[in-house]
Parts: sequence; structure tokens; C-alpha cells
Amino acid sequence: MKFFIDTANLDEIRQANDMGILDGVTTNPSLMAKEGIGGKNAIMQHYAAIASLVDGDVSAEVIATDYEGMIREAHELAEIAPNIVIKIPMITDGLKAIRQLTSEGIKTNCTLIFSPGQALLAAKAGATYVSPFIGRLDDISTDGIQLIADIRLIFDNYGFPTQILAASIRHPMHIIESARIGADVVTTPLKPLLALVRHPLTDKGLEKFLADYRKHNP
Ligand code: E4P
Repeated sequence: MKFFIDTANLDEIRQANDMGILDGVTTNPSLMAKEGIGGKNAIMQHYAAIASLVDGDVSAEVIATDYEGMIREAHELAEIAPNIVIKIPMITDGLKAIRQLTSEGIKTNCTLIFSPGQALLAAKAGATYVSPFIGRLDDISTDGIQLIADIRLIFDNYGFPTQILAASIRHPMHIIESARIGADVVTTPLKPLLALVRHPLTDKGLEKFLADYRKHNP
């Protein structure tokens, strides 16, 4: 399973990368705004900075919602670096844009997936990734993890190569459950990722090992 970090914060990306387990980055317009990045040049420069920090795929989202606009933006974003993946919303024109970009050899990530049918359509259009949003479904009393399971089953039924990128992760169990089901990628904020590292018995065990060592190595 691949680990992506879901942030536009360069320090957080560096921190996750330093752990040695990072495979890529996802961003969205809200995450860019959170970092105070605005204006086309600043946005493009920020994507370039992110893309230079990691070897793996970096999702950069289009703002246009019409086919021509999405394709225009996608071409500009794809020029930034070879590891830029174009994030396209799950709308009718988005599907058409995914089909076109795929035919040009440009990687895509179909975002804002909330149903198995949406994921099926994105896979059929040739998306490299689909991003089902687990946390936002849980927020409205719908089982987000079940969506990952449904998409896994459907993709496996037909051998779709589209990768399931579990998104909108809120806590470490979202990561574990996604891994159990067989999501290809999980994109997580830094906090749930760091929470995976910790276990009280690890801390306690390490404390005892070091205390015992010190007894005979004063
Ligand atoms: C996915 O690529 C999105 O950036 C992200 O996971 C959305 O998560 P949120 O629901 O926490 O905003």
C-alpha cells in the first residue's frame, strides 16, 4: 500500500518524507488556501516546490469545471513537473477530461468520489486514481469504509487498473481499515500518520530495555 500525505504544508511534507515511508502528496484548493497560497503564479510555484520534495505522485487540482478549462489548466499543471497528477472533480465534464488526459498519457486523480457508481465511471474513463472521501461520509452518518470495500470489489470484478486512493482520513483506524480492504493508496494528514507509530507497550518496553541496559552500563 502506498502512503500519500494530504497537505500543502511544506514542513509537514518534509516531516513525512523524513520518515522514509512517503510515496506522494495530495492537495486541494482548501489545503492550498490554508497555507495562504493564492494567485496563479504562487500556486504554480508552490506545486513546483511540493513536487521537488518527493519522488512520487503529487496531485494538483484544477479549478475550472468546464471541459476546455479543465484541459487547459491540466496542461499547465502537467508542465510543472513529471510527477504532477491532475486532480479532476467527479462531474460529467470531468469524466470527459479524464478520458482525454489519459489518452495523452497524463495521470489523473478523480476527486470527490462518494459512491461506487462514481468510482466505476472514473475507472471506465481511465483515471489513474479515484479518491473516495471516507471521513466526509462518516460525518453524515454513512459508512465511508464500506465505500472503499464496494469499490475494491467492483474494480477487482473487472480488473480495472485504476488505483483506489482512500481520502478524507480522520484517524488511524481509517488507515488500518483501508489497508484491510485493500485500498491501493491512503492519503492522510500528518496527525493520523504519526498516531500509527505510537503504542504504549512500545514506549513501556523501550523504557524497560534502556533501564536494564543502564543498570549494567552505568
Ligand atoms: C483528498 O485528496 C482530499 O484532499 C482530502 O482527503 C479531503 O479531506 P477532508 O475531508 O479532510 O477535507
